Amino acid sequence: MSILVIGGTGFIGHRLVRLLAAQGHAVICMDINPTAHSFADLGGKVASLRGDVTQFDDLMAVMGKVRPERVVNLSYYLGSDHAPHVAMKLNILGMDNCFEAARLLGVTHTMYASSLAVNGKQTHYGNRPVTEADDVHGEYQYAKHKIVNEWQAQDYSEKFGMLITGIRPANVTGPDKVRGSVDHVNLITEPARGNAISFPFKDAMRCPIHVDDICEVFARVLMAEKPAHRIYNTGGITISLGEIADIVRGYLPDAKITFAKETGGRDASGNYMIDNTRLVREFGVQYRPYRERVLQIINDIRRDNGEPALEA
Ligand SMILES: NC(=O)c1ccc[n+]([C@@H]2O[C@H](COP(=O)([O-])OP(=O)(O)OC[C@H]3O[C@@H](n4cnc5c(N)ncnc54)[C@H](O)[C@@H]3O)[C@@H](O)[C@H]2O)c1
Repeated sequence: MSILVIGGTGFIGHRLVRLLAAQGHAVICMDINPTAHSFADLGGKVASLRGDVTQFDDLMAVMGKVRPERVVNLSYYLGSDHAPHVAMKLNILGMDNCFEAARLLGVTHTMYASSLAVNGKQTHYGNRPVTEADDVHGEYQYAKHKIVNEWQAQDYSEKFGMLITGIRPANVTGPDKVRGSVDHVNLITEPARGNAISFPFKDAMRCPIHVDDICEVFARVLMAEKPAHRIYNTGGITISLGEIADIVRGYLPDAKITFAKETGGRDASGNYMIDNTRLVREFGVQYRPYRERVLQIINDIRRDNGEPALEA
């Protein structure tokens, strides 16, 4: 199957491209920064093109040439500190360009990344997992744009009968994550590099999920002929930064991790209890234990530093 991944050299994108190529698909990566990741080792299996998703002509040129059966849009500005005009152009117009090009060219299934951020703080929901049917309370630029994207997808689906599916990843973790929520990542990678690290609150809550698991979710849902829903939570593990620190210390007893305060972070935390029943029931996804993923990330860093892997 021919698949276009937009934002395909990014943190999630390059792994998804590799996974889909390994599954035997003809994958085309389009990114404004195509040299950020090389697929040269795949021996020409992946075509990597430069294209700017905010320019409709760019996108139509690529899609018109490739005529993909499936499209995944992962291009986005993570975080909420971007100038409104700049962020709107990529996050809203870029997404709209994808949906419109997919409509014009008859793409059979289009996917995009939403985010757990649409839900806002966990305190809006109390002490219970949040489902896709709950109202959203996202407060900042990034969350508001994702909320609009979900509406855009619904509008296109209803008006044109298109198949567009959104995934709401939780706090994605992996050794090379540098944008978006990174405290739960740095808590693992910095001690693995031998660096000290400190955080304001030990009880700040997160919902991490490993980037390999996220790619598996995208790959499975992408192949579906007709997913039962328009939007899926990935979920992850509900855990505090203090608990992650304990896992890290289990592997790295000399890790220098400090917290300024024991409490005070929980109520300020974003959505961290997430119901992923929809995804699990329909697609049978199973995530590797988080503890194993922490060790995997530590060993990724150690390998890059020429150090031997730690045993479980
Ligand atoms: N990483 C997370 O924790 C997380 C969590 C929830 C949702 N998501 C969503 O998943 C998606 C991918 O996230 P990521 O972590 O891989 O982000 P990333 O920043 O690593 O990747 C985004 C990619 O988009 C490309 N891009 C930027 N502007 C572009 C343009 N104008 N045209 C074409 N390409 C452009 C970038 O060069 C980059 O390769 C995003 O939509 C993000 O909001 C990520």
